[in-house]
Amino acid sequence: VNLQPLNTFGIAARAHTLVRIRSADDVRAVLADPALGPAPKFILGGGSNIVLTGDVKAVVLKVEIKGRRVLEATPRHWLVEAGAGEPWPEFVRWTLAQGTPGLENLALIPGTVGASPVQNIGAYGVELQDRFHSLDAIDLMTGREFTLDAAQCGFGYRDSVFKHASNLGLAGRALILRVRFALPRPWRPELGYLDLQRKMEETGIAAPDAQQIHDWVCAIRRAKLPDPAVIGNAGSFFKNPTVTPEQCADIIARDPAVVHYPLPDGRIKLAAGWLIDACGWRGKTVGHAGVYEKQALVLVNRGDAEHPCTGGEVMTLARAIQTSVYERFGIRLEPEPVVV
Ligand code: EPU
Repeated sequence: VNLQPLNTFGIAARAHTLVRIRSADDVRAVLADPALGPAPKFILGGGSNIVLTGDVKAVVLKVEIKGRRVLEATPRHWLVEAGAGEPWPEFVRWTLAQGTPGLENLALIPGTVGASPVQNIGAYGVELQDRFHSLDAIDLMTGREFTLDAAQCGFGYRDSVFKHASNLGLAGRALILRVRFALPRPWRPELGYLDLQRKMEETGIAAPDAQQIHDWVCAIRRAKLPDPAVIGNAGSFFKNPTVTPEQCADIIARDPAVVHYPLPDGRIKLAAGWLIDACGWRGKTVGHAGVYEKQALVLVNRGDAEHPCTGGEVMTLARAIQTSVYERFGIRLEPEPVVV
């Protein structure tokens, strides 16, 4: 099976076996199969946060579980549920159309509902964990279904138990079937981010509704992030690093312009995009992998049909960027997508 159309980076790679999963029963059928049951598994959603560095030998389970519903409305929240295979951006639009706002800051993030807790997606001041209620998953060893609440998911910045294989990690061991969201009532807008403040000034709209915020976020994203349907990419390629106030003061002494934000815990978050940009990488291309010209945090596929970008080229570029950021700022950037 050709995986090129199934990953937003558009990297050429193949899978030996791919099974489409439309229900928990489909998972149990795979587990009961004498050949597929004991084999390692790789769970694929929208393929928007992975870098394929070679053919995938594990059995690929492509999650296509559908369904969306508003489960209940209490005085304190709306409880909304969606199947893991629902496309995220459409799910967000649907919640707004149902009159259940709260996910609008997470508009237009590529990928599926089932992948959203894996890396705890976040944008414009809202993280998935702020709106998460619980999820149902199926154990790929036993076929048993179970439910996890937010604490059990171990959410961190672009992180959860589903990203780790060691210790209590669930990577490759559990397949997310459906996710429930608790959207706070009354709805309150999240407008703290500079980009949204600018939109308020530009338009003179001081009290936007959820649909307005959704549309602003879409416009902001379209202006600085490449559409994967046009230019292959996996969104931000590195996490924004955090440093101690002393480290930050050091960097400011050398580079007064460094973009930094204080965090509630006293540490300082640095903009990885700024660090990469400062090292001169924005717009550069190495082989068939490039650094997006409007946002240095995004690596893009500069290949074509005859010479597609390989995962190796992406990782070579990523390592070169890590080296120059380390040499200049003493900071080790960590990749954000899952490297397969
Ligand atoms: N910047 C530069 N040069 C660049 C890129 C950025 O100077 O080439 C500066 C910007 O001017 C800005 C700062 O860096 O002052 C931060 O940039 P931006 O607001 O674009 O956000 P980001 O930190 O680069 C993060 C998330 C995005 C999310 C946005 C908005 C991570 C790894 N990335 O990007 O998430 O959409 O904030 O909330 O946390 C993703 O995870 O795939 C993703 C796109």
